[in-house]
Amino acid sequence: MVDQGFRIPTKKSLVVRKVRDVTQKQRERAQAATEYNVFSFPAELLVVDYLSDSGTTAMTDRQWAALMYGDESYGRNTGYFVLLEAFRDIFERGDARRKTVDLILRNERDVDKLMDELLLVDVEGGFVNGGRFQLMRPNAFIVPQGRCAEHLLFTTLRKVLTEHFPGSEYWIPSNGHFDTTEANIHSNDIHPVNLFSGDIFSEFPVEEIRDVNPFKGDMDIRRLVKLIDEKGAESVPLIYLTITNNTAAGQPVSMRNMREVREVADRYGIPLFFDACRFAENAYFIKEFEEGYEGSSIPEIVREMFIHCDGFSISFKKDGLANMGGGLFFKDRGVFHRRFSVDADVGVLLKEMQILSFGNDSYGGLSGRDIMALTIGLYEVVEEDYLRDRIEQVRDMAEKLALNGVPVVLPPGGHAVYVDIDRFFEGTDVRIEDFGGVGLTLELIRRYGIRGCELGPFAFEWDKKTPEERKGILNFVRFAVPRNVYNVEHINYTVAALTELHRNRERIPKVEIVRGKELRLRHFQTGLRPVYS
Ligand code: F0G
Repeated sequence: MVDQGFRIPTKKSLVVRKVRDVTQKQRERAQAATEYNVFSFPAELLVVDYLSDSGTTAMTDRQWAALMYGDESYGRNTGYFVLLEAFRDIFERGDARRKTVDLILRNERDVDKLMDELLLVDVEGGFVNGGRFQLMRPNAFIVPQGRCAEHLLFTTLRKVLTEHFPGSEYWIPSNGHFDTTEANIHSNDIHPVNLFSGDIFSEFPVEEIRDVNPFKGDMDIRRLVKLIDEKGAESVPLIYLTITNNTAAGQPVSMRNMREVREVADRYGIPLFFDACRFAENAYFIKEFEEGYEGSSIPEIVREMFIHCDGFSISFKKDGLANMGGGLFFKDRGVFHRRFSVDADVGVLLKEMQILSFGNDSYGGLSGRDIMALTIGLYEVVEEDYLRDRIEQVRDMAEKLALNGVPVVLPPGGHAVYVDIDRFFEGTDVRIEDFGGVGLTLELIRRYGIRGCELGPFAFEWDKKTPEERKGILNFVRFAVPRNVYNVEHINYTVAALTELHRNRERIPKVEIVRGKELRLRHFQTGLRPVYS
C-alpha cells in the first residue's frame, strides 16, 4: 500500500517520440511566416500542444494490434460487423455486453457460429439495426468525423422540413452547441440556441474539486420550456444535449438533467439528441459525484444515459476512442424516425446522403483499420482506471494553476482546462476587442512552445454579432489535454509558463486582424498582428 494522495500508475509508454529542440527566435520566425495564426503554426515546432483533444489520443497496444485485423473490403468488411456490435454493447447493453469482436481476434473457426453470432444477425428496435433491418430501416451511420454526422443530419432535416413544412422558421436548443454543430445548423437556415445553466462562472473553492461537482454543463430547463412555448413545439425539430458540454468549459451534464430534458422532450413530442462526443468522461463524473451512482459500473451508467435520448451524433476522435471517426444514430421507430419519415423513411434519406458524400454504409469514409481500432477503443474508454487517470490529470493541471492564482474555471471539466480571460486580464487596459485571449496564445507559443486555443470573442466573432448574440459568447482560452500523450512534466511546464505569463500579463500583446476579418470560421483562416505596448 502507498499513502493516500498517491495514485497507483495504470499504464506505461512503450513508444517514444522526441520533442524537437527549438529556440524562441525560430518560433518567432515561424509565427511571422504563418501570419500569427495559431492553427497554422507547425506542430513539429511545439513542445506541448493543447490545441485539441480531438484525434490526438495515443492509441493503446491493443488498438495497434487490432489494426492488423483491418479488412479493407468495399462491401460489408468484417470491421463493420464487430463495430456495430460494439456500439450495441456500449450504448445499449451495459454490463451485459457480448464483445463479439473476440470471435475475430481469436480466429473462431466455426463458420456457423460466426454467421449466427456476428455476420448474419438481424437486430431491430435499438440504435443499431442489423442485417435485413439495417437495410430496410437504416439507423446507424458511420462517417469520418463528428461534423460529417452533423452535416448528414441537418441537411437531411432541412430537406424534409422544406418539402413538407415550407416557409416555417425553426430553432434547435442545446445546453451548448459546439461550433461545428452551430455552423451546420446555421447553414441549413435553422437557429441554434444555447441554454447554458446560469452558473458556469460561479465561484467554486479549489479545495473541493475532488469532493463535489455542480454539473455546470446542465441545460437550463426553465428557459427550454419557455423557448418551446414561445416558438411552438412544431418549430423545434430537435433538442440537443452535448455531453460533456465543450462550449461551456467542458463541464459534465448530470443524469438528473438528462432525465429532466427528456421529460420536457416527451411532453412536447420532440426528439432529444445527444452530441455524445465525450460520453465516457461524462459517465465518470456521474459515478464520482451524482448521488445514487457511486456503486454503478461505468458501462451501466452509459447505458442509462442513452436510454434518455432518441438519437445521437458523435465524434469518435474524442474520449480516447480513435484518431478518426464519427457516427449518427437514432432509435428504430422512435420519435425522430416517426416525425421525419413523411413520404420516405428518413433513414433511407440519410443513407443516400451518406453514400453520396462519404462512402457506402459499411465503411462511411473510414479505413478498415480505423474501424478495428475504434472497436477496441469503445471497450477501453469505459474502463474505470483509464477514466480516473484521464480526469485526474486534467484536474491536477487546473488545481495547480488555481493555486498559483491563474483564473481557471472550477471545477474543471473532463478534457480541458479553461482559463477565464476576463479575469486573467483584470486590472489591465485590455478590452474585449483587443482579443487578449489570442494574445495569450501567441505569447505562449513564442516564449514556451505551448499551444492553447482561444474560444472567445475572436473565434466566435464578437465584432460581427448583435448585442443579443454577444451574450452567448464566453471568453476562454482552452487547454485541451490529449489522452495518454503527456505526463506530469508536461503539465508542470505548462503550469509554470502560464503562471509566469499571468504575473507579467501587461506584457502580453493586443491583437489586430489584418487579413480575412469577414471570413467564416475565421480562427482557421485569418492573418493577425500582435501589438506590443
Ligand atoms: N461536438 C463536440 C462537442 C465537439 O467537441 C466536436 C469537436 C464536434 C462535435 C465535432 O467533431 O471534430 O470530429 O468533426 N471538437 C474538437 C475540439 C474539434 O477541439 O473541441 P469532429
